[in-house]
Amino acid sequence: MRILGIESSCDETAASIVEDGERLLSNVVNSQIDIHAEYGGVIPEIAARSHLEVVNPVIKKALSDANCTWDDIDAISVTYAPGLIGSLLIGTLAARTLAIIHNKPLFKIHHVEAHVYANFINKQSDNLSLTLPKQQPSFPMLSLIVSGGHSQLVLFKNHGDYQLIGQTQDDAVGEAFDKVAKIIGLPYPGGPAIAKAAELGDPHAFHLPIAKLSGEYDFSFSGLKTAVLRAVQHEVGKDFTFPSRELPALVDDELRRNMAASFQYTAIKTLVNKTKKAFDNFQPASVVIAGGVAANQELRRQLREALPIDIEYAPIQLCTDNAAMIATLGYFRSQIDEPTDPYDLEVQPSLSMTAI
Ligand code: KG4
Ligand code: ZN
Repeated sequence: MRILGIESSCDETAASIVEDGERLLSNVVNSQIDIHAEYGGVIPEIAARSHLEVVNPVIKKALSDANCTWDDIDAISVTYAPGLIGSLLIGTLAARTLAIIHNKPLFKIHHVEAHVYANFINKQSDNLSLTLPKQQPSFPMLSLIVSGGHSQLVLFKNHGDYQLIGQTQDDAVGEAFDKVAKIIGLPYPGGPAIAKAAELGDPHAFHLPIAKLSGEYDFSFSGLKTAVLRAVQHEVGKDFTFPSRELPALVDDELRRNMAASFQYTAIKTLVNKTKKAFDNFQPASVVIAGGVAANQELRRQLREALPIDIEYAPIQLCTDNAAMIATLGYFRSQIDEPTDPYDLEVQPSLSMTAI
């Protein structure tokens, strides 16, 4: 069964074709990072306009890269939640229209749940060369979902049968990377920039706090971000009233690298401590990492140290936003759900995974 996935929830317009929820046939991602970098973050109106301009060419390319015509496609799946409303509307409208014109079943997909399904892609067509996991994860599966908008620990008993066991009480971890990058004068998106700067820094140069929370598996990152801000103000000889936007000009390379390394070490430690606790308690058969922050090498290093089982990782291209994960989850959903009426599908910008 071949599914065309369409993703447009934030600042990537993407389309992909996946066979039987495991074999990647094409993976087209048009990123708007360059457009938004100038503003230091995603501007919703600009994002929606850009999706509108490229959504059709991106879908066409996904079909041609996979050597498929519409006759080869069995169903369409599309992100309908959560995300920026204008961005979600473009992708869903495209998917609904195509489902009607080509008479294909349509499946609505939750973006955060889909991030986990990047880990189910373990085969690819000959013209692709990603480093993929050798096998699909088995259930029960503990998943750490870490992106710009989400930080959650979810236990999957089976496809579509899961339980949210912990989440951030304030900022998402990717958001904390992005905010700290701004404070120390690194470009957007902050995650990759901090990871790179941290390679040359000392992770123990600054002792930053790990928040203590009542929820056993919950996270918090806003105190860590404030601790970084205060430490940087102190290092450059200013007090807490000094505006953060004026800090980058005063931060030298050594401070930037050491703060990047110390922040990254602590943020990742926060995630790994809770993941280890959940692992010990629930004894899952597999652990998977999903979302943009899953690309972080320090996260992989600390997890290797903390957990007694080996983790297989999805390639970085499938960790950040993409449509292959939407097509993959589309397949598994098609096995348990009825298709959605393309005339009725509405977007749900703030639907959390608990509410499905
Ligand atoms: O999953 P994603 O592409 O989009 C959302 O659904 O949010 O995640 C984007 C987030 C950004 O906050 C970015 O800074 C972060 O993932 N990120 C990283 C790395 N690569 C991307 N964070 C830490 N280390 C990385 N290597
Ligand atoms: Zn995402």
